[in-house]
Amino acid sequence: MELGFVPLLILCFLVSISSAELAAKVGVNYGQLGNNLPSPSESVKLIQSLKAKRVKIYDANPKILKALRNTDLQVSMMVPNELINNISSNQTLADQWVHANVVPFYPETLIRYLLVGNEILSQPDKTIWINLVPAMRKIKAALKTHSITKVKVGTPLAMDVLESSFPPSNGTFRSDISASVIKPLLQFVNKTKSFFFVDVYTYFPWSSDPTNINLDYALFESKNITVKDPVSGLTYHNLFDQMVDALIFAMKRLGYPDIRIWIAETGWPSGGDYDQIGANIRNAATYNRNVVKKFNAKPPVGTPARPGSVLPSFLFALYNENTKPGPSTERNFGLLYPNGSNVYPIDLSGKTPESEYGPLPAATNNAPYKGPIWCMVAKGANRSAVASALSYACSQGNKTCDPIQPRGKCFKPDSLVWHASYAFSAYWAQFRKVGGSCYFGGLATQTIKDPSYGSCKFPGAKL
Ligand SMILES: *[C@@H]1O[C@H](CO)[C@@H](O)[C@H](O)[C@H]1NC(C)=O
Ligand SMILES: *[C@@H]1O[C@H](CO)[C@@H](O)[C@H](O)[C@H]1NC(C)=O
Ligand SMILES: *[C@@H]1O[C@H](CO)[C@@H](O)[C@H](O)[C@H]1NC(C)=O
Ligand SMILES: *[C@@H]1O[C@H](CO)[C@@H](O)[C@H](O)[C@H]1NC(C)=O
Ligand SMILES: *[C@@H]1O[C@H](CO)[C@@H](O)[C@H](O)[C@H]1NC(C)=O
Ligand SMILES: *[C@@H]1O[C@H](CO)[C@@H](O)[C@H](O)[C@H]1NC(C)=O
Ligand SMILES: *[C@@H]1O[C@H](CO)[C@@H](O)[C@H](O)[C@H]1NC(C)=O
Ligand SMILES: *[C@@H]1O[C@H](CO)[C@@H](O)[C@H](O)[C@H]1NC(C)=O
Repeated sequence: MELGFVPLLILCFLVSISSAELAAKVGVNYGQLGNNLPSPSESVKLIQSLKAKRVKIYDANPKILKALRNTDLQVSMMVPNELINNISSNQTLADQWVHANVVPFYPETLIRYLLVGNEILSQPDKTIWINLVPAMRKIKAALKTHSITKVKVGTPLAMDVLESSFPPSNGTFRSDISASVIKPLLQFVNKTKSFFFVDVYTYFPWSSDPTNINLDYALFESKNITVKDPVSGLTYHNLFDQMVDALIFAMKRLGYPDIRIWIAETGWPSGGDYDQIGANIRNAATYNRNVVKKFNAKPPVGTPARPGSVLPSFLFALYNENTKPGPSTERNFGLLYPNGSNVYPIDLSGKTPESEYGPLPAATNNAPYKGPIWCMVAKGANRSAVASALSYACSQGNKTCDPIQPRGKCFKPDSLVWHASYAFSAYWAQFRKVGGSCYFGGLATQTIKDPSYGSCKFPGAKL
């Protein structure tokens, strides 16, 4: 024991020195799924105004890479998902991709991370899974061919790569990817001294189980809640650490206890639908300011399983992105509105003291909304798309649309928007509990104002 102690101490010292170089550099994810976003050069100025030190983009957009030239922002760029299959079996293609997308901007743009695909192991198309690591190897080799050695290769994954994450010491990768994809991935990351890039959102586990998980625990606000892992003996004070440690234990289980973690995305939505709990400005500001404080702490705090380790990170996201599909929260993760103004004040360097931020609006949706909620055609929705969505909604379930047939109680007023609103509400009231959503490709929106009229009663979703 004692003989081992001194080298271990030296090792820890060396590790903390080398990881110190990584410290205190919070970045931001610059997603572009909006039709109203500022130009790349304006965006770069906004990123700098947030005091971000790094930026991650989801593609290789040449306008953005150009706008980042000769700035001090470190850049993470991405090989699109669609190319992974072809690149995995074609070194020439990998070389060409790097030649066309990296070489023109390097080194003037501080490209440091080249991520291959986004959340590939959460994709339903499993054929791509097995090609992920081979594609990463080919991209790494292509960088080497072009004498680009400063760029690390990784791939950001979601927490659903774990089949078990509680208690954290029980963290285990899904059996359908563990041996076939994760093990070779860890081997690659280890050999190339890269990172395990992971998207960590406490919002999702909390919002799907708000009775058993405390909101303050998810927001880094709890002073007295602790969760003790009975196997490791480690004590947790927030949900974020618990999630990260589950990943650390899962990697350890596969024989890689020391792989460094990079938080590729984290954040909290500032708005959402009526049936989405806790998505508000107060919680978003609280979560993001607290996580920034943690990331910037000196000395680094790490997590219970890795105290003192640095967690490099990118917050999600720069903007509210209005063309992202899914529930409204997806379009409300931004630190900024598309017009460039703050959703709430935040300083990614962590240097602004809490007291300078000013008051936040009260949270009005931290408890579940009980309903009913109706699902209506959204303003300005494309009429021919609404017509198809109407027939889709009516084709689902049992007698969903009887009341809007001629002589039905909701036939009048005989208009497309009225009929479709009825159909959306009826569909959603039937299917919400089994995963149906009030979205219809952006054509629908929720309302808590009962649209029923005369003897026409709109079904409302109960929560
Ligand atoms: C992949 O390669 C095949 C065969 O060369 C080609 O037909 C296809 O367009 C390629 N896919 C992409 C996304 O480039
Ligand atoms: C590999 O990619 C190159 C460049 O796109 C292409 O010309 C070639 O046909 C591909 N090879 C195979 C076997 O698909
Ligand atoms: C640990 O994880 C396994 C699956 O990997 C699961 O079956 C088991 O229930 C978990 N144990 C606990 C105590 O949650
Ligand atoms: C923690 O403190 C809050 C506020 O003082 C209190 O309401 C809550 O019951 C406490 N929770 C526990 C687990 O002690
Ligand atoms: C890679 O694996 C070796 C052997 O297990 C280990 O000593 C080393 O710390 C690992 N490196 C990283 C960066 O994980
Ligand atoms: C920017 O957009 C937000 C949200 O739409 C709005 O509240 C704010 O007033 C706008 N700011 C400016 C300067 O136009
Ligand atoms: C409206 O939707 C239809 C398909 O449903 C599409 O073909 C058309 O381009 C859309 N029009 C506009 C203006 O987006
Ligand atoms: C429709 O009604 C029948 C008979 O009541 C029932 O067996 C079936 O499951 C229903 N289908 C749906 C989609 O609700």
